[in-house]
Amino acid sequence: MSNPFIEASRRRRTQYALGRRLPLSQDETAALIQDAVRLAPSSFNSQSSRAVILFGAQSLRFWEIVKDALRAIVPAESFANTERKIDGFAAGAGTVLFYEDQDVVKGLQAQFPLYADNFPVWSEHASAIAQFSVWTALANAGIGASLQHYNPLADAAAAAEWSLPASWKLRAQMPFGSNEAPIGDKTFIDDAERFRVFG
Ligand SMILES: Cc1cc2nc3c(=O)[nH]c(=O)nc-3n(C[C@H](O)[C@H](O)[C@H](O)COP(=O)(O)O)c2cc1C
Repeated sequence: MSNPFIEASRRRRTQYALGRRLPLSQDETAALIQDAVRLAPSSFNSQSSRAVILFGAQSLRFWEIVKDALRAIVPAESFANTERKIDGFAAGAGTVLFYEDQDVVKGLQAQFPLYADNFPVWSEHASAIAQFSVWTALANAGIGASLQHYNPLADAAAAAEWSLPASWKLRAQMPFGSNEAPIGDKTFIDDAERFRVFG
């Protein structure tokens, strides 16, 4: 049975071959990303997820920040490979930076001490759901993307560059753009290993 959500989920894949030719305008793309984050669930409807949406030169600036941080720690002889990888992300149309507001997490811990240990975990879950939702919404609009983790390496410089609140913790980065190459097939483990259905 065909289901639009499952078809959209099937379309979501890791795309590293990105270009700048978006099928949507910048405003439409930003609105799509904002809808996906806004509609994602969070524990106690705390809405701890934050997103910084960078297009064009702003996205390039983020990947420059990452490159500068990596240059300081990657051995010089392997930096060319690292640089090639980062340039691939920068070749897209933009990047979404996913944050979780730690002030929201701390507020929940103070308000509901019984669940204090859970709130940081649930904040991570909320971020993951928002990430998946944005990734899938972009894929459904014909926009390729991948999920990257250059945090905490890039946190301080990004916060300074875009004047972000100190309570925002960077959790993931999603470079996106036009699909410039086909994506290979994906293999799946046996259903018998993952699922138990009763009744
Ligand atoms: C929690 C999580 C972390 C990931 N981190 C990275 C990452 O740092 N770099 C990257 O290139 N891909 C990352 N990925 C993408 C996975 O490698 C990819 O989703 C997986 O291989 C399945 O391929 P698909 O996205 O095409 O379905 C991550 C995915 C998840 C769910």
